[in-house]
Amino acid sequence: MLNTLDSSQATAYPEIIQGGMGAGVSNWRLANAVARRGQLGVISGTALDTILIRRLQLGDPGGHMRRALEAFPYPEMVRTILDKWYIEGGKQADEAYKLKPMPTVDMLREDEELLIVANFVEVYLAKEGHSGMVGINLLEKIQLPTLPSLFGAMLADVDVVCMGGGIPLGIPGALDKMSQLQPVEMKLHVVTTDRSQEYTSSFHPGTHVSAVQKTLKRPLFFAVISSDVLAKTLMKKASGRVDGFVIEHHRAGGHNAPPRRGGEYTERDVCSIEKVAALGMPFWLAGGCSTPEALAAAKAAGACGVQVGTAFACSEESGITAKIKSEIIQKHRDGTLQVITDFKASPTGYPFKRVEVEANSTRDACRACDLGYLRHVYAKDDGTLGYRCPASPRKPFVNKGGTAEEAEGKQCLCNGLLATIGMGTVRRGTPVQPLVTWGEDMRFLDSILDANQSSYSANDVIDYILSPVVA
Ligand SMILES: Cc1cc2nc3c(=O)[nH]c(=O)nc-3n(C[C@H](O)[C@H](O)[C@H](O)COP(=O)(O)O)c2cc1C
Repeated sequence: MLNTLDSSQATAYPEIIQGGMGAGVSNWRLANAVARRGQLGVISGTALDTILIRRLQLGDPGGHMRRALEAFPYPEMVRTILDKWYIEGGKQADEAYKLKPMPTVDMLREDEELLIVANFVEVYLAKEGHSGMVGINLLEKIQLPTLPSLFGAMLADVDVVCMGGGIPLGIPGALDKMSQLQPVEMKLHVVTTDRSQEYTSSFHPGTHVSAVQKTLKRPLFFAVISSDVLAKTLMKKASGRVDGFVIEHHRAGGHNAPPRRGGEYTERDVCSIEKVAALGMPFWLAGGCSTPEALAAAKAAGACGVQVGTAFACSEESGITAKIKSEIIQKHRDGTLQVITDFKASPTGYPFKRVEVEANSTRDACRACDLGYLRHVYAKDDGTLGYRCPASPRKPFVNKGGTAEEAEGKQCLCNGLLATIGMGTVRRGTPVQPLVTWGEDMRFLDSILDANQSSYSANDVIDYILSPVVA
């Protein structure tokens, strides 16, 4: 097992980490296929509560959700969820999904349980039928669902937690405590003028499990970083053990770290691999690393291997709709695929790589905020907490103290990303348009896919990356 290894046995770590890709792109199917091959399959934990209830409202085709729910150790939690969300035969295509309340600091117990169960389900299915390793990916920027999500994943025996999108100092210690079923507190990022005030989110695992359960496995913690300074900070200041690093280049799909000096990326924004290697921890390189040559170069630089996103996102097992995947493949072949780094679109404030596909050229102007994962928590004048998203309708956002500048160019990632996996919100009978994030480097495609093929599997990606380097 990976967990019993230390960094001196780096060769026993997986050579390929299939990167966590939200929302629902790296789903249980993809992670399962990768883990079966002895590589690290990672599910995205982002918005899994909404994804579970949408799968149930679609009638749970294949029965996978209900199979995993049956394996959840506390059936009373499952009963409530099935009674509330499962629709036999599925909802009508033009019918709107029923929504759960948006995440808040003082979440209802029922919503906390939904997060626990949803994350259990995804990890359980990813681990089903093999003994390979499975990880969960969460983003530091989306804090409110984090603790119950991690706990649900731990109940399903998750092996690794990978986190990026911020500086996850509090997470390693939270994993230590949750593995002992002790209460956990996590510092929250709250927009406030009063710097002396600290805000926390708390979670008590013990209140969700029976007295018989005493401990859980403490998963390994890998931080996704883009600078050696961040790696050092995490080693020094994290609340518990950090077990490895994924060094992500700004070529990578998803969110990227902002350029250090603003403007465009320069050489200064490329992490020093030597400095991270000098820390003596296992590490992987990510961002345009999906070739045998990149794997060989990463290993020559001291890495255990590579983390790969885009190549897996385009594979048959990923959650992205077949229509979007084939459009991207076609555009790549035609030479018309354009991946842009959008410095404004994401409500997180981080740059976000996106690709233009036909489906999103008619983006609707509707900015309704009904999922709320990327809302900023802010302190009101009376000291209570409020929530606002810069991608939500302008007027209420500004009324809540947001600025017009913050709102400029923002897109609703929550709804756009769910539409990308075929679970888009339906408004007035019309589905919200997809928003597709993608990496810059598509060189892998010409080697994986023959001219007469239109799709490929996660196995094909692994076979290709592990194939001998051509001299
Ligand atoms: C569709 C897509 C979604 C992504 N979502 C996330 C995410 O939710 N969290 C995260 O840490 N990284 C995310 N990433 C980054 C990947 O985990 C991985 O590090 C990156 O894709 C590697 O670069 P590559 O795309 O060139 O292979 C995403 C990447 C893609 C392509």
